Amino acid sequence: MYDIPFLDLPPLNGASGTVHLPGSKSISNRVLLLAGLAAGTTAVHDLLDSDDTRVMQGALAALGCTLRNEDGVGSGGGRVLHVTGLGGQLAVHEAEIFLGNAGTAMRPLAATLAVLAATQGGNFRLHGVPRMHERPIGDLVDALRPLGCQIEDLGTPGYPPLRLRGQAGGLLATAAPIRVRGDVSSQFLTALLLALPLVSADRDVLIEVEGELISKPYIDITLNLLARFGIAVQHDGWQRFVIPQGSAYRSPGSVHVEGDASSASYFVAMGAIAAHGGAPLRIEGAGSDSIQGDIRFVDAAVAMGAQVKSGPGWLEVHRGRWPLAGITLDCNHIPDAAMTLAVMALYADSPTRLNGIASWRVKETDRIAAMATELRKLGATVTEGADFIEVEPLTPGAWRPAAIHTYDDHRMAMCLSLAAFNPLAGASGPAMAGMSPPPPCPVRILDPRCVAKTFPEYFEALFGVATADPQDVPVITIDGPTASGKGTLAAAVADALGYHLLDSGALYRATGLASQWDGVAPEDEAGLARLAGLLDLRFGHGPQGSRAWLRGQEVSDHLRTEAAGLLASRVSAVPAVRSALQGLQLAFRRAPGLVADGRDMGTVVFPHAALKVYLTASAATRAERRHKQLISKGNSANIDDLRADLEARDARDKNRSVAPLRPAEDALLLDNSALSIEDSVQQVLGWWQQRRPF
Ligand code: DC
Repeated sequence: MYDIPFLDLPPLNGASGTVHLPGSKSISNRVLLLAGLAAGTTAVHDLLDSDDTRVMQGALAALGCTLRNEDGVGSGGGRVLHVTGLGGQLAVHEAEIFLGNAGTAMRPLAATLAVLAATQGGNFRLHGVPRMHERPIGDLVDALRPLGCQIEDLGTPGYPPLRLRGQAGGLLATAAPIRVRGDVSSQFLTALLLALPLVSADRDVLIEVEGELISKPYIDITLNLLARFGIAVQHDGWQRFVIPQGSAYRSPGSVHVEGDASSASYFVAMGAIAAHGGAPLRIEGAGSDSIQGDIRFVDAAVAMGAQVKSGPGWLEVHRGRWPLAGITLDCNHIPDAAMTLAVMALYADSPTRLNGIASWRVKETDRIAAMATELRKLGATVTEGADFIEVEPLTPGAWRPAAIHTYDDHRMAMCLSLAAFNPLAGASGPAMAGMSPPPPCPVRILDPRCVAKTFPEYFEALFGVATADPQDVPVITIDGPTASGKGTLAAAVADALGYHLLDSGALYRATGLASQWDGVAPEDEAGLARLAGLLDLRFGHGPQGSRAWLRGQEVSDHLRTEAAGLLASRVSAVPAVRSALQGLQLAFRRAPGLVADGRDMGTVVFPHAALKVYLTASAATRAERRHKQLISKGNSANIDDLRADLEARDARDKNRSVAPLRPAEDALLLDNSALSIEDSVQQVLGWWQQRRPF
């Protein structure tokens, strides 16, 4: 979703309801690899479906594993992926594998394929996106080469892409302890822990960590999942790990992937900031029984003021202290979720300092630099160092509308979306008493699709629980006569902005259709108004584009017929019908924004719309377009009759006593007689951009 250049978040003022977390990325990719290496078939329930897990699945398929999807049978009704593994034996000895920007795929696969190629023979090339080629892997390579693994740097030494090679029958030098640095990324140790059980048949394999191990909770996840696949790694403390002789991967049959605790952090923060009415924000998928280290983000959020209840698989968050309290915290144990604290810091009443975050510099982007830059765009004062960031709170009047660069980093997009709750900043602070609140700021998220790395439906989840003052939700109205192309233009503009779409004509068309179904006469104004008031009309998407259901029955094609249009034109002249449909139309004004097309969107329904467009085209052009449209659908049509119909309908729409068709005084006129659809869309988007504060 939101495959668009930017998404504008309107100012948000509350959050409540329930969010279902997508599966954990860390667990998903480990489970996929383990299932792919094990003997037997593993049913993986609630796997995360995202960019990072897709590249891992692609890799497994390339290596000869069988992957089969089954919909709607998972423990939670979700999908199940059946992975039949290799049983530790390479089925494919040569492959090119693209791993995007997934560190959780690159590091373990590099180790695994290095070990398998060295012992069973093979030639594998691992590569990714340009940023992947800037993310270090040298410490892992340095740990593997002394064993006898042939690893070739194909670009900058110490970084992907890599070639892994070897001859069948090769032996690895596993008698001596295998040393790996633990202070740059814990993924190097994870990679060895996942790969070396493949060569532990004849002797114990010992791994020794050099330097202080960072991000220990991720090693816990690795050990926990190894145990489920039959490998009981022994360790005392975080220095020495022993994979016992005779270890071999065995599928546990079925594995459930818990919700992503790092993804939960955005909603825990949202609850702490914005769940200030009665109802809490409930997060389902991760809770008190989570094996993920980032669940400890909850403690940090509580320290800042959140009220959190939890149980197995769920959290409930409510605002507690307000404003939030600034904290100083060593974030070594929650490196990813800690980013969320940096944005929560804006809502505090004292500075927040996050220490122990050097690893941020080698993630999807240099997250310390990125976070500092983007928080400053919002108006914040930020100090950064090699391994820390300090953020001053933002006072209510100091927020600025900002276009947030996301650096192809999902977490930047998700964290910074929390800035949209700025209308709440300092709201109950004593300094605000008696003052009129400063204007709330929208927040533009550039390249919002980057969330697909771990949480493809993040913004949908956000809009599902966040509330906005309707006045703050932008509306673009596109009014105009029949067949001017409003519908097409409005849909394209809504698509380009990620906004909701209101095709108000469909409401009148559906009312007309309902009157036919129920035999309500065109003169029965009260009867028509009653139908309009109870209109059970739903919109959605089907394979052929937008669809509509009236009383549960699909009516998309029917609503678009000329007959339905004529009937609509009649019922729409009834004042009581118009007022009965008013509330339904206003309800479409929801975050992030609305594009509404019709006859009176800018004049009556949304008189304060931020941009009003009045679209026209000559009657001849409109008749011609409609003619083409009908012919292309295999309907016969006469162009002169069509034109006469259009002009009659125009006259009725313009001359009726209520909400007659006319441009709003502040509407911008667009005659598209000589324009392509794309030209018209660009014109409207250009006008819109001029009105935005970014
Ligand atoms: O835009 P359309 O062709 O689907 O509209 C069908 C009829 O509904 C049209 O003749 C006028 C009426 N209509 C209206 O009166 N007000 C609107 N906002 C939208 C449509």
